[in-house]
Amino acid sequence: MKKIAIFGTGYVGLVTGACLASAGMKVVCVDIEERKIKMLEEGECPIIEKDLPERIKKGVKTGNLFFTTDAKTAIEECDVIFIAVGTPTKKDSEEADLSAVFAVAETINKHATKRKIVVQKSTVPVGTGSQIEEFFMGKAEGGHGIAFFHAVVSNPEFLKEGNAVKDFESPDRVVIGTSDEDAKKVMSRIYAPFMRTAVGTTDRMIFMSRPSAELTKVFANTMLAMRISAMNAITELAEKFDADAKEIRKGIGSDSRIGPDFLFPGGATFGGSCFPKDVRALIAVMEKAGIDAKLFREVMNVNREQRMRFVVKIFEQLDCSVSESKIAIWGLSFKPGTDDVREAASLDVVQSILDGGGKVALFDAHAKESFRVAFGERAGVEYCDDQYEAIKGADALVILTDAMEFRSLDFEKLHSLMNKVVICDGKNLHDPEEMANEGVQYVCMGRPVFTAKKST
Ligand code: UGA
Repeated sequence: MKKIAIFGTGYVGLVTGACLASAGMKVVCVDIEERKIKMLEEGECPIIEKDLPERIKKGVKTGNLFFTTDAKTAIEECDVIFIAVGTPTKKDSEEADLSAVFAVAETINKHATKRKIVVQKSTVPVGTGSQIEEFFMGKAEGGHGIAFFHAVVSNPEFLKEGNAVKDFESPDRVVIGTSDEDAKKVMSRIYAPFMRTAVGTTDRMIFMSRPSAELTKVFANTMLAMRISAMNAITELAEKFDADAKEIRKGIGSDSRIGPDFLFPGGATFGGSCFPKDVRALIAVMEKAGIDAKLFREVMNVNREQRMRFVVKIFEQLDCSVSESKIAIWGLSFKPGTDDVREAASLDVVQSILDGGGKVALFDAHAKESFRVAFGERAGVEYCDDQYEAIKGADALVILTDAMEFRSLDFEKLHSLMNKVVICDGKNLHDPEEMANEGVQYVCMGRPVFTAKKST
């Protein structure tokens, strides 16, 4: 098997590298951040991701996985080079910032002494693969003075944070966008260990053109985001008629054409580094191409408006003014099982409470430090190590992720520790009627409201 270099040791690059190495391939992961590479060489995993530390350890122990900042040697030694660097939204527009992708292309051009298979795994707008190819072809004068006809393949990732190793090792599909026959063979061999259970027409390796692969990635995320926004868009009407979004989800999800996944509504609407960025990037590409992206703009509008509707609901539940309140928040990351707070609901909810002059007490099993870094040190913010410590003297508890530890509640503690037992559940985890029976003043999105039975 050819040796593989992976540029970028973020969620995608590191998971890809560690999983390929633990399946027996020789992989070198390259990054410009020396601190990160040092950490990895010492066997430490820089991110919180289930099963990843074990895969890294296995790769290193078997002598299959290496880490380096030496891009030149990695390029010289490897025939297959994955680009797995970040493509965040640009500061001044909705477009994806491709500077890191092109910096890697530049480095490959500089150091390659023969043809490479360049596998583009970063999430990019449609057409980027062609731009990279044109970049290589136009570089006859650069590097070694030879324009190599590197094969540029699109191989998008479909990894969910918190489940990324499993998604990589048991993929629903592996999309390969290329018309290069040699590249097709090499990519088939790389992914063969993860295709053992696939047979014949149910093979999970899907070959297509490069632009189709690029669009498949961004549109898959947009489609999932659209489902969530569609559910969120129905919650206000459900509330007006005492209908229950949970029942509706079951009702529509049992239709095999619809399915039950990614239909959970809530006030803590979708966040993370992927859905918001990819929907925005698709809108930007469409508008650049002169196409009205109104449907997809609404996906983002619904997401933002639902978050704000939830903040209003939180404030309505308070017996005191916001400025006199202390509000406990459970869940700071954009989803459980990660310390990633990018575009998390917590950032907007905490900001709104502080803007109103209130105080917050925050709990998250993994994301306190990353929230502190993203949000900055601010007056009125207390970080707690225990979820029940956060509710001491609180006027309301706001739940923002569906972490396991938030799914069952200690009512005795709630009643003894809180000023008033008010729960605003941004993930619709609990049953409103049961909450009322336990004396909890409970609100969520798209479900009926019941009056709390016991006095609180
Ligand atoms: C997403 C996709 O699910 C992956 O397939 C894709 O590879 C990845 O983006 C990527 O582009 O790298 P991820 O962002 O890690 O994965 O997380 P998801 O589990 O998809 O959740 C995204 C957001 O949607 C979270 O804030 C989650 O709480 C929210 N969500 C999810 C809902 O609000 N409702 C749902 O029903 C499902």
